[in-house]
Formats: sequence, C-alpha cells, structure tokens
Amino acid sequence: MTTPLTPRDDYRGSGLVFPEGFTFGSATASYQIEGAAAEDGRTPSIWDTFSKTPGRVWNGDTGDVACDHYHRVDEDLDLMRDLGLHAYRFSIAWPRIVPTASGEVNQAGIDFYSRLVDGLLEREIRPVATLYHWDLPQHLEDAGGWTSRATTDAFERYAEIMGAALGDRVHTWTTLNEPWCSAYLGYGQGGHAPGRHEPASALAAVHHLNLAHGRAIQALRATSSGDPDYSVTLNFHVLRGQGDGAAEAVRRIDALANRAFTGPMLRGEYPADLLADTASVTDWGFVQQDDLATIEQPIDVLGVNYYSTATVRLWDGISEKQQNDGHKGAEGGTAWPGSDGVVEFVEQPRPYTAMGWNIAPEGLEELLVSLSEQFPEQALMVTENGAAFDDEVAEDGSIPDPERTDYLRRHFTAAHRALERGVDLRGYFVWSLLDNFEWGYGYAKRFGIVRVDFDTLERTVKDSGHWYRALVRTRTVDA
Ligand code: FCB
Repeated sequence: MTTPLTPRDDYRGSGLVFPEGFTFGSATASYQIEGAAAEDGRTPSIWDTFSKTPGRVWNGDTGDVACDHYHRVDEDLDLMRDLGLHAYRFSIAWPRIVPTASGEVNQAGIDFYSRLVDGLLEREIRPVATLYHWDLPQHLEDAGGWTSRATTDAFERYAEIMGAALGDRVHTWTTLNEPWCSAYLGYGQGGHAPGRHEPASALAAVHHLNLAHGRAIQALRATSSGDPDYSVTLNFHVLRGQGDGAAEAVRRIDALANRAFTGPMLRGEYPADLLADTASVTDWGFVQQDDLATIEQPIDVLGVNYYSTATVRLWDGISEKQQNDGHKGAEGGTAWPGSDGVVEFVEQPRPYTAMGWNIAPEGLEELLVSLSEQFPEQALMVTENGAAFDDEVAEDGSIPDPERTDYLRRHFTAAHRALERGVDLRGYFVWSLLDNFEWGYGYAKRFGIVRVDFDTLERTVKDSGHWYRALVRTRTVDA
C-alpha cells in the first residue's frame, strides 16, 4: 500500500469533466433485489437459510420479496434507461440455474436473465454480469460449501452453463463479488451466511473461491461466443496504522484482506507472509499442485469496491480489544484468522454514513493509484461505491438526500483525481440502483439512488438519482 493521502481539500470537484468513453453505471445483486424466492424452480440459497434463522438478520427480514425485481424487471429497465445508465451490473442467482444436487439445469432461471440481458441491450445499456454475489445454493453448502473443493467443480460447470447461455450478449463477465466477505464473514466471523465461525475453514474458503474464479474464467472463455471482457470484483481494505508496530498491523491485515486474493489471481502466488501469519490456523494443505496456475488468469478489468477506510494497531493484550471493522459478527467468530488477538481495529474518525462507515474519499484516490502502481497493466473499474443514509420522503413526494449526493460527488472527484494521475480507470458503478436487502441489516439501510417503498414496492428517483442522471448526461460533476 502507498502512504495514506492527507485530504488536501474537501474533494468537492464541481465542474470536473470525465473523459469520453468513461462508463457510468449502477449495480445491484440478485438476493438483494429479486424476491420471487420460491418461483420458477429457484431453491434456497445460504442467504435464505441464514435470514430465516432467528437473530441473524435485523428485524427478521428476508429476501423473499425484496424489491420484487423478478416481477418488475421491465419497470426497472425503464428506470435505468431514464437515468441514462451506460451499464448495469447485476448478479445471477446460482440457485435459479442449478437448483438441486442432481445438477439439472433450470431453463426458467436462464430465461429470466436472458430476458434481462435483452432488455438492457434494447435500451443500449451494457450488461455486466456477476456469477456469484453470495447466494450459494443451500444444497452445495450442505455438502461443505466453500470449504469443499467440490464447490469449485460445481462453479466451473455453472460458469459453462452461463457462458453458453449469455456469452453471446454479456459485455463483461465478473466471476465473484467480494470473496473476502464470502470467506471471512461467512466462514470465520459468522456475520454473513452460512454463519460459521471456523478460522481454518475461512482460509480454505479463500482458496476455493480463488480457484473457482480461475476455473470460471476458463469456462466462460471456452463457452462465450461473443467477445466479452472478463473480470472479478474485490473489496480492498484501505488501511491506516496506529501506534508502535503500525506497519506490522497494516501488513497483517493487508495480507489477509487484499493480497490473499490479488496474490494468486494476479501474481500466481500466495504471499509468504500470509502463509506464515496463518501457520497456526492451517497448513494450507488444500492448495494442490497447479492450482495457482489455474487461478492466475488474465482479466480485462479489475473490479474495485470501495466504501471507507480502516485503522488498525497491534493489540497490547491488556486493554479491551476493539473490533470496529464495520461488521457485526457472531460471538466467538473472527474475520482475521491468525491475526485475531494480534491486531485490533480502531474507531474511525467521523463523519459516518448510516452504516457507521467513515467517509473518506481520499481513500478511493489512494487505492486506485496504489493498485495501478502494483499492477500497471491492469485496467480498473469501480464496481461499487455509494452510501446508506436514513432518507425521508418530503411532503411533495420527492426524496431530498443531500448527504448521499455529497458522498457521491466527493468520491467521483476522487476517481477523477486518480484519472488525472494516470490511472487506467474505465468506469464507475454506483451502489445501488435501488434500496434493497442490505444483508445482516435487512431493509434498515438504504443505499439506493432510487427509493423503494417496501410496503407498496413503488420506486421513486431520489435527488441523488437526478444528480447522477445529470452527471451521466454531461460527464461533468455538478454541471
Ligand atoms: C458490499 C456488497 C453489496 C452491498 C454493499 C453495501 O460489500 O457487495 O452487496 O451490500 O456492500
């Protein structure tokens, strides 16, 4: 990582113009918006099971209905057209495609996404499809989930099916969304489905997700008849260190959070310090010969999700350990195998969004510059950035959300500064198109630039959505 940037100003770059060809998009994910959880052959994913387990998700919320996007897809496509989006990043629900352990393919599931892709193309919106945004079929979790190598076989096959079905029309294929969350929050810390807290399993999941990525890229390439781009989306941790041993604390978390994925995917190796730091947890015996060569596949664009920064320090072992890393977890779980009890997360400086995540646009500039220094040949795309705030509907029915607009303005300014510094940044997807099911927080946290009334399911473009429409049309911040 590079040296943290000190904000030189407030990052409110009104008047900045983005280059011709820069992609402005918005993003969602299947379980967060689709609903229709038991329709047309879909079977439960780990998030259906998890959200129906008492105490796991705020208010007992589930994705059973969500935004009902499955039934309102035409209305949502029109919304995207009206906002002027160049591209739409969505994910495919694996349990709609291969619903049971028999492996049989569900044509109704394929038909839904095929219709979505056609609807996008009709409106001149580029389809950016993610294969895995956390909704693992429950039947695969029952057989071991991401701790089992067999899940990578199943993922390769699923990628072949989708490549053959949509690879003539999809603009960009993304294998995984944020494998850090799937592995460490799902199997280590337990705040995400499947809610296990087994440090060694979390590291096995890291490897199997990496392997699944490599195998899926190969499978998509072999089956896509068009000329799509290939990609993966990672959630990088932008870290600041504190106190004596700050550099050591940052190094450890950087290894687990960032280099555990970029190492194998982009350099064909696991970092030696990661293996050493986790030696008491696992011997990494699940890494087989040739796996690293399989994982290291050329990709056209690296997807970057960014929301906030984190500050870490070495724990003195005496004071009460802080774990303010922005994720609620199950008792006894850790997202940091091998470094739990060594490193602690320190509270971040305000201001915060409604998630309690600090607002730090300079962290995005720093991250993009750092990635382009580490991987000079690699084109980058911001595949998620956005903010939750407690919106209120005004008397006239509009949704004034100046804080969200300001958050976006400042992060677009950060992206523009990275472009000016020579970063090959191709585009930017705002999270999210719609208010939706925010995982462990259920419907309590609203990220949309379009409001969803969860009683009537009515959509209303927020002021931030109108602001974004103007940015897309003029390529100019606050035109
Ligand atoms: C990311 C997820 C996305 C959404 C945002 C707020 O970690 O990829 O689904 O929940 O956070």
